[in-house]
Amino acid sequence: MEPVKVGLLGMGTVGGGTVNVLHRNGEEIARRAGRGIEITHAASRDLNKPRICSTEGITLTTNPNEVVENSELQIVVELIGGDTLARDLVMKAIANGKHVVTANKALIAKHGNEIFAAAQKKGVMVAFEAAVAGGIPIIKAIREGLAGNRIEWLAGIINGTGNFILTEMRDKGSNFEDVLAEAQRLGYAEADPTFDVEGIDAAHKLTILASIAFGIPLQFEKVYNEGITRITREDVESAEQLGYRIKHLGIAKKTANGVEMRVHPTLIPERRLIANVDGVMNAVLVYGDAVGPTLYYGAGAGAEPTASAVVGDIVDVVRTLTSDPENRVPHLAFQPDAISDIPVLPMDEIQTAYYLKMRAQDKPGVLADVTRILGDRGISIEAVLQKEPTSAGEQATITMLTHVVMEGSMNQAIADIEALKSISGPITRIRLEHLNKK
Ligand code: HSE
Repeated sequence: MEPVKVGLLGMGTVGGGTVNVLHRNGEEIARRAGRGIEITHAASRDLNKPRICSTEGITLTTNPNEVVENSELQIVVELIGGDTLARDLVMKAIANGKHVVTANKALIAKHGNEIFAAAQKKGVMVAFEAAVAGGIPIIKAIREGLAGNRIEWLAGIINGTGNFILTEMRDKGSNFEDVLAEAQRLGYAEADPTFDVEGIDAAHKLTILASIAFGIPLQFEKVYNEGITRITREDVESAEQLGYRIKHLGIAKKTANGVEMRVHPTLIPERRLIANVDGVMNAVLVYGDAVGPTLYYGAGAGAEPTASAVVGDIVDVVRTLTSDPENRVPHLAFQPDAISDIPVLPMDEIQTAYYLKMRAQDKPGVLADVTRILGDRGISIEAVLQKEPTSAGEQATITMLTHVVMEGSMNQAIADIEALKSISGPITRIRLEHLNKK
């Protein structure tokens, strides 16, 4: 049988990695797919740019439309990123009857509903394993391997750059900018690294995970998002003293009232496996009602780990080229007419525990005032750590962990505590998850 011809949009880090993996493992991949796979065309903005792969046998162009309109190609792999040009090209490829493989999380999170509807109509596949957690086959695991479960919640370290920064801050006391520059040099960070450190990249990925876990439409605009830029070394140290690590987590949870979707720095017990996922590595912890907790770990970025997911998707598409479109794995795990619009909860209604840090005058009654305010709001304290002032006149630092409470009650309690004369400056609040049960 003729090899399947594939066109690439984008020949950067992941594009180059994809060419290299397909060349190196071509024979083995063909044995799996049932046919050879050849990248015959590729579009790149700059044809003279140095590349990590050979372009022998590939017709290069600066015009991506030539790829999506090429009648020889059955699969288009979109690796240019962003959600404007990429969206146009993907929609054109679908309209031209081509299957699409993409690593583009922003594209799927923001325009996936429209893209999948168009693909469904046209009978083509849009595969997006590489969009979440790089080389970890987490989409496949949730969509297929866990299909017998009701997913209760998932929590993931889904941005390698952010995890690398938090790890280096903890282990080496490195400063934020240096670690970020290193992540950029290694090709982990987004073109705009604020996407990494402000949690936007993680929010794109969480949108996709929540959708396939719960059978809800993609709703990026409803994800609560908080970055890691305000985390200090002092917070990292206090968390350690209390037996916790700070990780930037994407959390999706199904409750009786709706779905929680949130990205924020989170304290997690240091004995959890996921608390020990360091550096640029990613991990996703998924809790299914039948299976209990399962943990998926691996490289979340980089040329070949991401190419691993891209090539896996190409193989999936090739295997199903001859199958009836109605009998393929649905894009969002649930059949399109079974997607349900469960409400996404506003942050005031989510439930979590908290780490609170405040600066207080070192005098009798201050702690009593704080605990009274918390008690009045039904907030129970789990642990308290007070660091004495080292010199006269300096303020004491009080760090507390609370039990689980509704965020709205915590916001009111924080406002009341900040209004106390004995407390100065804003209170640091970091959410805390035990990640051990339903
Ligand atoms: N910038 C992303 C990260 C790359 O650091 O995880 C993979 O999406």
